[in-house]
Amino acid sequence: MTSSKKKKIYFYGFILVFLIILFIVISFSYFITYQNVNITTTKSKPQIPINDENNPPKEDNQEPERSEYEITANLRNQEYYLERNYQRYLDYAQKYPQKSYKDVVTEVNCNIDKEFYTNTEASNLETGTLILVNKFYTLNNNYVPELVEMDSQYSHASTKKMHPEAYDNLVKMINAALLDNIILYDVSSYRSYQTQDTLYNNYVKRDGASAADRYSARPGSSEHQTGLATDLNTASSKAHFENSKEFAWLNNNAHKFGFILRYPKDKEYLTGYKFEPWHYRYVGVEVATYIKEHDITYEEYYAYFIVSK
Ligand code: DAL
Ligand code: ZN
Repeated sequence: MTSSKKKKIYFYGFILVFLIILFIVISFSYFITYQNVNITTTKSKPQIPINDENNPPKEDNQEPERSEYEITANLRNQEYYLERNYQRYLDYAQKYPQKSYKDVVTEVNCNIDKEFYTNTEASNLETGTLILVNKFYTLNNNYVPELVEMDSQYSHASTKKMHPEAYDNLVKMINAALLDNIILYDVSSYRSYQTQDTLYNNYVKRDGASAADRYSARPGSSEHQTGLATDLNTASSKAHFENSKEFAWLNNNAHKFGFILRYPKDKEYLTGYKFEPWHYRYVGVEVATYIKEHDITYEEYYAYFIVSK
């Protein structure tokens, strides 16, 4: 064999070996790639949720469900939390998940988890001038408080009667207002059960029960029957007493004489009544000052401080 023939054989041999190695490398890398694709495809396959009656699909905007533990911890953090209302708070929070924990506690404390005029009980007469009379706490048709006659200087009402302690303080307040050139006078204080019955039923005839219930108490549910309330200067929303200088004076001073604005603006959902800028209730200076400073209703105060825990 000539040396040139040998060289040719080596050359072609080398090419053959190279091609075989190349084939093996390509086949191997193809195999690896194919395997990976398979693995990746399997792994990234979206899981299809099984939806049936027991496993309904989740709506996108659904709030994440709160655990009972989380709800309880938040409720217990609220300023006016009452242990005796725990189960009611929990039920109410679960029924209305959009409500804040503060609102849950406030509303349940005011019995708003119940319908007005349901679950009523007798007002506690032992609480004296701190008695609560509303759509859940009521007075008998024969309940008459201790009363004194009011001087016509202080009352323009047809029946001029009021609880003595409340009257003493009303007199002080009206006299103090006068020194500031503010004229205040009562237009309705004590009303008997029977008077309230007539009033309420006349309003029902005129406006219908659901409208009347927003501004007039049913007999037995009016705190006018306690002799501790007074309507000052007017009892009509048409008078817009809230825009008067008399109202501004009361807003700054009524608590110093023990009176609170009983049905404040935007609190109808708690008190059961529309804003009554003229209706003041005697509770004593200390309680009135607390209520004023903390901007709470009498329902809230009573639930937390008066009902025995
Ligand atoms: N207007 C008040 C709520 C009453 O009737 O006692
Ligand atoms: Zn009134």
